[in-house]
Amino acid sequence: MRVAMIGTGYVGLVSGACIADFGHQVVCVDKDAAKIEALERGEIPIYEPGLHDLVRTNVGEGRLSFTTAIEEPVRAADAVFIAVGTPSRRGDGHADLSYVYDAAREIAAALEGFTVVITKSTVPVGTCDEVERIIHETRPNADVAVVSNPEFLREGAAIHDFKHPDRIVVGTHDERAKMIIAEIYRPLSLNQAPILYTAPRTAELIKYAANAFLATKITFINEIADLCEKVGADVQEVARGIGLDNRIGAKFLHAGPGFGGSCFPKDVRALIKTAQDHAVPLRILEAVGTVNDTRKRAMARKVSAMFSGALRGKTVAVLGLTFKPNTDDMREAPSLALITALQDMGARVRAFDPVGMRQAQDLLKNVTYCENAYDCAEAADALVIATEWEQFRALDLERLRDLMACPIVVDLRNVYRPEDMYRHGFAYTSVGRPLAAPAFADDASLDGLLSLARVRASVPGL
Ligand SMILES: NC(=O)c1ccc[n+]([C@@H]2O[C@H](COP(=O)([O-])OP(=O)(O)OC[C@H]3O[C@@H](n4cnc5c(N)ncnc54)[C@H](O)[C@@H]3O)[C@@H](O)[C@H]2O)c1
Repeated sequence: MRVAMIGTGYVGLVSGACIADFGHQVVCVDKDAAKIEALERGEIPIYEPGLHDLVRTNVGEGRLSFTTAIEEPVRAADAVFIAVGTPSRRGDGHADLSYVYDAAREIAAALEGFTVVITKSTVPVGTCDEVERIIHETRPNADVAVVSNPEFLREGAAIHDFKHPDRIVVGTHDERAKMIIAEIYRPLSLNQAPILYTAPRTAELIKYAANAFLATKITFINEIADLCEKVGADVQEVARGIGLDNRIGAKFLHAGPGFGGSCFPKDVRALIKTAQDHAVPLRILEAVGTVNDTRKRAMARKVSAMFSGALRGKTVAVLGLTFKPNTDDMREAPSLALITALQDMGARVRAFDPVGMRQAQDLLKNVTYCENAYDCAEAADALVIATEWEQFRALDLERLRDLMACPIVVDLRNVYRPEDMYRHGFAYTSVGRPLAAPAFADDASLDGLLSLARVRASVPGL
């Protein structure tokens, strides 16, 4: 099959490289000339594990190429994927479909012979119909089938997810389109990935409903975590206790600072808007959006609480800036709201992230960017773990404690065990867990440590 991938971002580049790896002929198109030039030089513009090798191999074997010129790849293609961005529209939260519609016009102008146009971007219900209308407006005689094929890959595990999907959703009634799409994904039938054929509108809604459900699950456990903190329960044990129930499932039950990233926040907003437009308000999802929006900034209060609210002049070290590990994506990362709130409270912020520093520097000003976790912790009054990168999971705790001005750790990802942190002399707080394990609960020295930490924090040089 000859495939054109329009949009060479996190989804387009991974999808294009994987489809080439299946043996098809793929041209990835992007408007961003700098991105295409980098790819042509063999550089990968995003951080995604395994992507560099996958791209290099498939370029080397002549199946994958890059261009800014859309005409020729579309003219030659059996299938054209639209994988451009659909960010929140400024002002009202609807999905901004201008990139999709622009791409549709450009595709229409170049089409030749029967072509399947596939929206892989996450788009609101009815967008496939509109793409088809735009194509026929531009080229009334175009022989096309417009299909919805939403993508479910996760950044950080994108290649694995693309090659081992739980399901492939294909929204079309067109038999020719079904044959072409089945042929593109044929190598995945070895992994027995089920293809779910639906109407386009159903496929479009499946994607939003899936993300909305996962966002709801995270928000649910985050609120349960808040309750755990008040009643002395442990949210990780609650999550395990409910997650072992097959009807609930263990995934997406990790309490933390709120969901971020390039998909969940904008997709929740867009689905709420679609529902409102159809006079079917989604009350649960509206609550999810509101709870999550306030949660990220509220995490700064966990830090200030360690200083009895007096954060002005303190230095806070933040480990992890990207919205999750194994990506450089900073879109709507919880660290953005957290750091801004810490700065609003008068704190000085030092930060380190293994791969997201360049992206962060464009978004977060007046932050001291550091070389590594220990450099970041140097002379800090408190350390916050904001993203659970692997390299933050086994820090040398003695070294960390000795480097810090004050041994306070606020662990927003529950990476460490409270009793271990206590044993190493830290004042430690996390999300939805008692301050120390029950064995330490009677130990008056925990209170002592917390007060000592607070005193050390308030008296310079102590
Ligand atoms: N990032 C994810 O994890 C993920 C997962 C599933 C679905 N999605 C969805 O996939 C879509 C793409 O997301 P992304 O994260 O890859 O976006 P992205 O911003 O990383 O990439 C989009 C690319 O499209 C290019 N582009 C825009 N208009 C173009 C045009 N007319 N012609 C050629 N190129 C054009 C941009 O220059 C950019 O490089 C979104 O709808 C998103 O919701 C994303």
